[in-house]
Amino acid sequence: GRKIIIDTDPGQDDAIAILLALASPELEVIGITTVAGNVPLELTSKNARKVCELAGRPDIPVFAGAIRPLVRHLVTAEHVHGKTGLDGPVLPEPAMPLQERHAVDYIVETLMAEPERSVTLCPLGPLTNIALALNREPRIAARIREIVLMGGGYSEGGNVTPAAEFNIHVDPHAADIVYRAGVPIVMMPLDVTHKPRTSKARVGAIRALGTPVGLATAQMLEFAERFDIEKYGSDGGPLHDPCVIAYLVKPELFSGRMCNVEIEISSELTMGMTVVDWWGVTERQKNAMVIRDIDSDAFYALLTERLGRL
Ligand code: BDR
Ligand code: CA
Repeated sequence: GRKIIIDTDPGQDDAIAILLALASPELEVIGITTVAGNVPLELTSKNARKVCELAGRPDIPVFAGAIRPLVRHLVTAEHVHGKTGLDGPVLPEPAMPLQERHAVDYIVETLMAEPERSVTLCPLGPLTNIALALNREPRIAARIREIVLMGGGYSEGGNVTPAAEFNIHVDPHAADIVYRAGVPIVMMPLDVTHKPRTSKARVGAIRALGTPVGLATAQMLEFAERFDIEKYGSDGGPLHDPCVIAYLVKPELFSGRMCNVEIEISSELTMGMTVVDWWGVTERQKNAMVIRDIDSDAFYALLTERLGRL
């Protein structure tokens, strides 16, 4: 399978993304790195290990990374994800250890050791670890196969401020470094991730798998929804991070176009905005494949089928 490193701040949707990746033979999860985001680093590092154990994969190495954003104070989202960051299911305390190496060291050393352009990075949280790795060893930029990330938004606006999506809002300076690095980027913005909404039927199909993974996933989705239903006024909530993994497994479910994307890091009003030149009105270099559409039914069919394998 295609080698990936998942950089993450679990988070229910991060957790479901990790489960989808671990269930997909097209992908080989060589490591998971954690970052402060939805909840502080200690909790995201614990949650990542809980999810590996839920999937029956305590062998996956998990490395803890940055404890705070590059410049700004850490903003967390307990009001969305609950006190633990992974409220909903009751999962045992993880028995598997956290690796001793720092996540940024792991990312740099892995990219320098693996064949050029063989490793894909999948950031599902703030981009702090990825920016630190690029600053620490700029030669990794030419060695990364692709960065497929969840972050930003353009026509939909933001979900934390009118302009900014959470992952970019938390660490806009890191996002700026990543988008300027010259690495091929696939961007999964809110414009896509708001489309595959949960519903009774979709969550019901996952619960009906009748497995511990199916039950825990259904409970995570239902916990996440309780916030989103109020917010979006629909019968379900969006599902963000699993879109990144689904794209790697079945890119034909998605469509978008190459655009220039720059990150606002100076205006207080629009800090963290992803400025997407969708219409190509500038000559600025097209640095990202910006995804806009998803086949939501096929996405849930894939997710449900794959979770059934765990
Ligand atoms: C992103 O923010 C987090 O709360 C989710 O896990 C997702 O990565 C959506 O804005
Ligand atoms: Ca996330």
